[in-house]
Amino acid sequence: MLVDRFGRAHTYLRIAVTDRCNLRCVYCTPATGVARCAPEALLTVAEIVRVARLLVSLGIRKIRLTGGEPTLRPGIDRLVAQLAALPGLETLAMTTNGVLLPGQAAALRASGLMALNVSLDTLREERYARIAGHPGLPRVLAGIQEALAAGFVPLKLNVVVMGGINADELLDFVAFTADQPVNVRFIEYMPFPGNQWQAARFVSYPTMKQAITSRYPLVPLDDAAGVAKRFQVPGFQGTVSFITPLSAAFCAHCNRLRLTADGLLKTCLFHPAEADLRPALRDGTPDAALADQIRRAVGRKLPGHRPVADLVAGGDRSMLQIGG
Ligand code: 5AD
Ligand code: SF4
Repeated sequence: MLVDRFGRAHTYLRIAVTDRCNLRCVYCTPATGVARCAPEALLTVAEIVRVARLLVSLGIRKIRLTGGEPTLRPGIDRLVAQLAALPGLETLAMTTNGVLLPGQAAALRASGLMALNVSLDTLREERYARIAGHPGLPRVLAGIQEALAAGFVPLKLNVVVMGGINADELLDFVAFTADQPVNVRFIEYMPFPGNQWQAARFVSYPTMKQAITSRYPLVPLDDAAGVAKRFQVPGFQGTVSFITPLSAAFCAHCNRLRLTADGLLKTCLFHPAEADLRPALRDGTPDAALADQIRRAVGRKLPGHRPVADLVAGGDRSMLQIGG
């Protein structure tokens, strides 16, 4: 098992399968752009599957595919199918912006993908183009309906809540859960280098919750697992969650590892400390030595991230490069 110095067992792996994206969301993409990995630096499907298999043998039980935008990765169905077949893996999920979901959702489901999160930061078309950098809301909404029809129920919808940008839509999103089997997840806006984060745009969990409960009663649902606080408006089909990376740091219970598209293993979203697995993957290093490299990286994991003020000041990689 991958247990660190603070007793945290790592059971959840997020794999960025590409560093490319077809959107430029304000909270993700630095206005200055990002350096992309050289094509040969990207892990191949076989390399990703090898690392994943090894990590599952070391105790990973859930894998989420991210990006960039994972549906842009050539051969994503094949990758999904191979990961879904790993013995010991209990959940295989993906986070997508949904733009390419129309026409893909059913195939992803058939390949063995079990759960899907779709980013949906606004329900207003003009605003979508401003937040995401490209128009496309109708396609995302169509993709959401296809995903529901393909059996991704409940479908999780990620909303990064930003003051002055989309925070006035909280009630609209709650209303959206009335007759859709979705879990709307309101996410606190996290600072990353160049992502236009400002204190004035930060909307905390208590503020969001208060804005909603002024109109809708929120009944807590107990979810032992996971970091989300989940609620339901009585009589509504869907549910509402809050993801609070900043107001209630969940470092103490962190069970996550991340693999970047170019093969860096990250033990914390906010720390540069990374193990580069790519050389070992390409020089014939056996699994046992690769496993040692992974265990050492987990052994260096720190207890938590720095204060928010420091995070704003700088970090090493943008969210787009890390993969969420
Ligand atoms: N703050 C909060 N969540 C973010 N994501 C990306 N950037 C940020 C940020 N700065 C998350 C969102 C998005 C997914 C791809 O990554 O949930 O839907
Ligand atoms: Fe692309 Fe997702 Fe970043 Fe938006 S948040 S730019 S969809 S990677």
